[in-house]
Amino acid sequence: MSSNQFSGNVFSKIHDEERQGEVLLQPEIKETGKKLYLESYGCQMNFSDSEIVASIMTDMGFATTPQLEDADVVFINTCSIRDNAEQKVRGRLSVFRQAKAKNPNMVIGVLGCMAERLKAKLLDEEKLVDMVVGPDAYKDIPNLLEQTGGGQKAVNVLLSREETYADISPVRLGGNGVLAFVTIMRGCDNMCSFCVVPFTRGRERSRDPRTIVREIQDLVNQGYKEVTLLGQNVDSFHWEEEGSAPVNFANLLEMCARIEPSLRIRFSTSHPKDITDEVLHTMARFPNICKCIHLPVQAGNTEVLRRMNRTYTREWYMDKIRSIRTILPDCAITSDIIAGFCGETEAQHQDTLSIMEFSQYDFSYMFKYSERPGTLAARKYEDDIPEDVKSRRLSEIIEVQHRLSLASNQKDVGKVFEVLVEGPSKKTAEDHCGRNSQNKMVVFPKGNSKKGDYVQVLVESCTQATLIGRIV
Ligand code: SAH
Ligand code: SF4
Ligand code: F3S
Repeated sequence: MSSNQFSGNVFSKIHDEERQGEVLLQPEIKETGKKLYLESYGCQMNFSDSEIVASIMTDMGFATTPQLEDADVVFINTCSIRDNAEQKVRGRLSVFRQAKAKNPNMVIGVLGCMAERLKAKLLDEEKLVDMVVGPDAYKDIPNLLEQTGGGQKAVNVLLSREETYADISPVRLGGNGVLAFVTIMRGCDNMCSFCVVPFTRGRERSRDPRTIVREIQDLVNQGYKEVTLLGQNVDSFHWEEEGSAPVNFANLLEMCARIEPSLRIRFSTSHPKDITDEVLHTMARFPNICKCIHLPVQAGNTEVLRRMNRTYTREWYMDKIRSIRTILPDCAITSDIIAGFCGETEAQHQDTLSIMEFSQYDFSYMFKYSERPGTLAARKYEDDIPEDVKSRRLSEIIEVQHRLSLASNQKDVGKVFEVLVEGPSKKTAEDHCGRNSQNKMVVFPKGNSKKGDYVQVLVESCTQATLIGRIV
């Protein structure tokens, strides 16, 4: 899931590292006295983790508050993916410092990937921080809070090979009651050379599929209409236990699709080395599995991909695109792209632009390479592309993507799509917005439609980011 405090990241969609600093509130506030202020950065998985944390805190009698000054406990769930993500968090900590100056009893906790990356060092660097909690240690929060109550600093950054929080039912925060996110696996074993996630999230582990199905069934009972299955590499989902057949990602998709035909299923992220034709055929068989695949290419040149340790070549990636186009002709394809990775030549950059044209991406998240301490690339390669060259290459990538997105949307003018109504459009109260199966945002006069309805919309015009139409 792309998380992005990202310059150059132009599209906002579900796999969304663009979400930043949202204050997360419980739907129902209990009257208990103790208040939690919870802010989240980073990818969708981090937001899902915040829902686990909220659940643990609710059990301890905390209610969430949107008012920093009112909080007894302030948690910031952090992202380390690029340097600017961490800088943003540092900026917020200085705002928290002022709040704590007025309320010295306030407990400040840093959670998530930055907590894991920096560990106890964070306590030295940021004196206001009382608690540092890594992504696998949230069940220890009650103990850690008790320690801080005694005036001590508290740290738990142990990574686990088993923890999936399968037994915690998340408190749905900040949602619209229509879309929900369900984490199906944690961690990552891939070691892409640029990426900090294997260090901050630990080893890959899949969650018991029965608990996934149960959570989705609960969501259906509460009226949810769309679920996105989350993992850093969903195609390597694997569950095996004695006495029953192993479950792979295609099997899991089918299990989820069968829960309720009116429930849409999405998933993210697919790794080009692992996505199988079996997954594509499963998608083809179930109309409620949305036709959109996030298949990050990162770079279009085989030598750069090798240095990135992505373990596929340009040709392998192009073959995957061909398979998707053959098996799922209506499928949207989206990507993540890095500009200016170590040693990238001008010709290699051109290969990125040309693979974008070949793939005809509907959207991309686009970033300048940001060196992360401790990663393979930081140890092995020099971050040698000057900032102005990275910026120029990124602009060229963004320009191609804008053109591809517009062309893709123009092809949809005149077509009718089933759209799940998400609520009022950002621009005018008379319009509703929602997404089609391809995850494109569609805006239309609301008529009698309600949030959570499926409506048929005829597309009459478009921008690069949105389809515009009317209900038919
Ligand atoms: N698991 C997903 C990606 C998770 S991180 C996958 O393998 O595709 C989301 C995106 O952030 C990555 O796809 C990559 O494009 C970008 N990213 C990760 N590390 C980065 C770095 N050091 N500099 C710039 N972008 C980076
Ligand atoms: Fe990072 Fe690669 Fe794992 Fe994605 S697959 S999280 S980019 S190491
Ligand atoms: Fe997500 Fe950022 Fe961590 S992208 S996994 S919150 S480093």
